[in-house]
Amino acid sequence: MACRIISGPEVSGEIYAELRERIEKLKSEGTTPGLAVILVGDDPASQVYVRNKGRKCEELGMHSETIVLPKETTEEELLARIDALNKDPSIHGFLVQLPLPKHIDEDKVIEAIDPSKDVDGFHPVNVGRMLIGKPGFLPATPAGVQQMLVRSGVETAGKHVVIVGRSNIVGKPMAALMVQRGFGADSTVTVVHSKTRDLPSITRQADILIVAIGKPRFVTADMVKEGAVVIDVGTNRIDDPTHPKGSRLVGDVDFDNVKDKVSAITPVPGGVGPMTICMLMANAVKAAEDAAKSR
Ligand code: GUN
Repeated sequence: MACRIISGPEVSGEIYAELRERIEKLKSEGTTPGLAVILVGDDPASQVYVRNKGRKCEELGMHSETIVLPKETTEEELLARIDALNKDPSIHGFLVQLPLPKHIDEDKVIEAIDPSKDVDGFHPVNVGRMLIGKPGFLPATPAGVQQMLVRSGVETAGKHVVIVGRSNIVGKPMAALMVQRGFGADSTVTVVHSKTRDLPSITRQADILIVAIGKPRFVTADMVKEGAVVIDVGTNRIDDPTHPKGSRLVGDVDFDNVKDKVSAITPVPGGVGPMTICMLMANAVKAAEDAAKSR
């Protein structure tokens, strides 16, 4: 079967072009969208994410602040920083990069963020709004997956969407988005996970299979239906001595074998990855538009 590759750089490029216009408009009206990121500690992967977010802001002409705090930072100190950003009118949205050092309570930190500045969509108020289909900030990765489906013309209404994985940042919110009434949703949704009995018999029923389980090449060709659409949210670094770095990224899907059976698939890298920062930027622009409106 001829398989279409759904490209993250292509879809995100389309969204960035729209965001640039909205940013220009905001700036012409006197508002420069501002995004801040707090990083606690020196986790190398987090450092890369945070640097990429800052770069993207600059590329788009947004105001960006990166606050790097030592790993010994107390919860109290972090909460004080959050309070300051909640009150800072030049910052329309911000996030605290996760994971946090063990001595800091993540839930407490997330709940301290003003929901109107919570561009990660992690605050319980935004999670609740999403669940009942009210406006709010959507978590970036599930929203990015939905945009990839919509913008590559994949029909979702009435389709069986099977989601592999039940994390709070991908699986669960992904299910909430796809079961919602409306365009790009209206799906019949099943969530499968590590405790599911006979998982392959369920993934084989998927018209659209979204995989976010964090296990390299977990989904093999025998687990997908002929002609399905497969979205791979996984990013796993595996050893590869033939690679210059000694390692490379693979998804949660066995791409090389699955691609010959399905109608469309996202690669890793070059698939969902670029969508996450893109949707974060979209949330930051929306936060700035909301703030400009209420001035
Ligand atoms: N760590 C990994 N992904 C994310 C994310 O989307 N937001 C935050 N704040 N931390 C993360």
